Amino acid sequence: MSSADAATSQQHFAALIQEQLQRVERMKQDTEWMDYATLNPIIIGVIGGDGIGPFIAAESQRVLEFMLKDEVASGKVEIRVIEGLTIENRAAVGKAIPDDVLEEIKKCHVTLKGPTTTPRKGDPWPNVESANVAMRKELELFANVRPVKVPSEGLDWMFFRENTEGAYALGSNGVNVSDDLAIDFTVTTTPGSERLIRLAFEYAAKNNIPKVTLVTKANVVKTTDGKFLDIGYRIAKEYPNIECDDWYIDIMTAKLIDPKRRTQFRVMALPNLYGDILTDEAAEFQGGVGTAGSANIGKRFAMFEAIHGSAPRMVDEGRAQYADPASMIRAAGMLVRHIGFENRADKMEKALDICGQLEKKVVLTGRDNGATGKDYADYIMATIQNPELEAKWHGFQK
Ligand code: IPM
Ligand code: MG
Repeated sequence: MSSADAATSQQHFAALIQEQLQRVERMKQDTEWMDYATLNPIIIGVIGGDGIGPFIAAESQRVLEFMLKDEVASGKVEIRVIEGLTIENRAAVGKAIPDDVLEEIKKCHVTLKGPTTTPRKGDPWPNVESANVAMRKELELFANVRPVKVPSEGLDWMFFRENTEGAYALGSNGVNVSDDLAIDFTVTTTPGSERLIRLAFEYAAKNNIPKVTLVTKANVVKTTDGKFLDIGYRIAKEYPNIECDDWYIDIMTAKLIDPKRRTQFRVMALPNLYGDILTDEAAEFQGGVGTAGSANIGKRFAMFEAIHGSAPRMVDEGRAQYADPASMIRAAGMLVRHIGFENRADKMEKALDICGQLEKKVVLTGRDNGATGKDYADYIMATIQNPELEAKWHGFQK
């Protein structure tokens, strides 16, 4: 919205409130979880995206096909490539996700998505909303689940980032009230917070993790973060065996680099923007965002992706084949777990830990003095098949 005035801005705000109230009602109706065991076939969409996306997506698809060979052969799993989620197409139709592409995405039960370019001010592209953000909202992918693990240092973190609300809910709907006054909005809803925080507690309960940490800035952002925090402690009462504590985002960011403290964090639940920032910081311990995958979970759909962007510079400089596919292969592992193949997902994760943090026999530098993404995917698959996989990984635990 360009420069408005006070009256138009008030109308704009009134319309946003109505939309959000309707969204709350929709969330309350949405109670059923998809049961993958009943699906035949399970349809997996692979979306290339922009920049290095198609390169790392192709390697991840190879690993996925390797892991699900039998199911693909028997027809139990179908893997489909979805074209067209590119910045060129999105710019041409002026939409975060072109309608025909969204329709194809909705025909899949789960998707594995390469990074997509998010236009920002000054780019040659029109300022369309981020495809990631749009997809999370369109498919109600309310939980962004981001693991970070460094077994040799005893780090084992699982972040549950709220994925449809907070500063992102209306991130493209702020108001320039006048030349001197700009206002953005941040949104917290009861059903939106409950579903995310409950998922974090369920994860902790299922994995015997004794603590969930809530991260907010409720001392300053009192209304929305305050609500998230209250809901967190209310839900904690349903899980008497799990301790619940809370930290403010500033000190949390600091404590993540405190070697004495950081191993004590296990499961974190946090609003959207804090989750965005903290998970990039966290991924750095594991080797950077290039190694980190994430699951975007909703009740009906789920989408799996790297946590980083499309690195257009690597493509411009002719280096795309040297991009690290580990992030997206990790995401593929989370997909495999989500649709019910836990043992295979364990193997994928262990192989990624061994290849990236322990053995490092194939090293990517992002340039031609290092390995290619294809070499790396081959290395991962060879490690998965290696009978010594378990032994190697156990030797690596702290
Ligand atoms: C992420 C990314 C996105 C986000 C961008 C690309 C919009 O940083 O997935 O963390 O902010 O959520
Ligand atoms: Mg981010």
